[in-house]
Amino acid sequence: MRCALLISAFLLLAACQPAAPKAPPRDPLAPYRAALADLPPEIPARAEAAPDRFEALVRAVSAAVAEDPFLLRRVDKEKALPADYEPGDLALLADYPFALSRRDLRLRKPAAEAARELDAAAKADGVTLVFSSAYRSYGYQAEVYARNVRRDGQAAADRVSARPGHSQHQLGTVVDLGSIDNTFAESKAGLWMAANAGRFGFSLSYPKGAEEITGYDWESWHFRYVGKDAAALQAEFFGLQHWLLVFLERLFP
Ligand code: DAL
Ligand code: ZN
Repeated sequence: MRCALLISAFLLLAACQPAAPKAPPRDPLAPYRAALADLPPEIPARAEAAPDRFEALVRAVSAAVAEDPFLLRRVDKEKALPADYEPGDLALLADYPFALSRRDLRLRKPAAEAARELDAAAKADGVTLVFSSAYRSYGYQAEVYARNVRRDGQAAADRVSARPGHSQHQLGTVVDLGSIDNTFAESKAGLWMAANAGRFGFSLSYPKGAEEITGYDWESWHFRYVGKDAAALQAEFFGLQHWLLVFLERLFP
């Protein structure tokens, strides 16, 4: 009897204890807020509106970066590749069923395989993609840039041509399609690419009206392979490829 009383008193006391404080809800954006800070405000706002989706895509993209550090490496007017950087897995596009403007075009294997899928989907829709330029070595880019400077002067050249070391083409994951001028945008292939490239992991590097941010005039023909998760992350949150690459550079300095 005494024992039962004691147990009841203990249970009563336990029930009267204030509830343990609840753990705060998980914050999926916590690891990313510093890297999102000072990007255009619509980017963190989109992340705050869909934090779980943002986290899932960033995690998938982070895994891709860990496996292949050059896939999403920032290369632009501020950030250069080493002069001797040449990808080790360049594949000859003549070994693929592509329409080519030159037989010697090469792309990194993952980009070439993604281009195979892209090209097949375009063909299934009755669209022909012509591959006009792909991997360019540091030395070749130096020639291309020098030719542009001789023809148009340095200021004009810098709006359309990267200095050696600063071209995304040196990564081996970029294709220039069709005419390599902005008549491409209105061509069947250009309209198809604008609507579908992202589904296959390709991203337009220099969109219209973004020269102040990207450093280059509109290039409707220049697509960088970034992978499907990164293309989705760009489309849903970052808008411009440039901001995605800046964000990833902060996460993986
Ligand atoms: N036309 C682009 C900017 C390049 O030269 O890589
Ligand atoms: Zn290009």
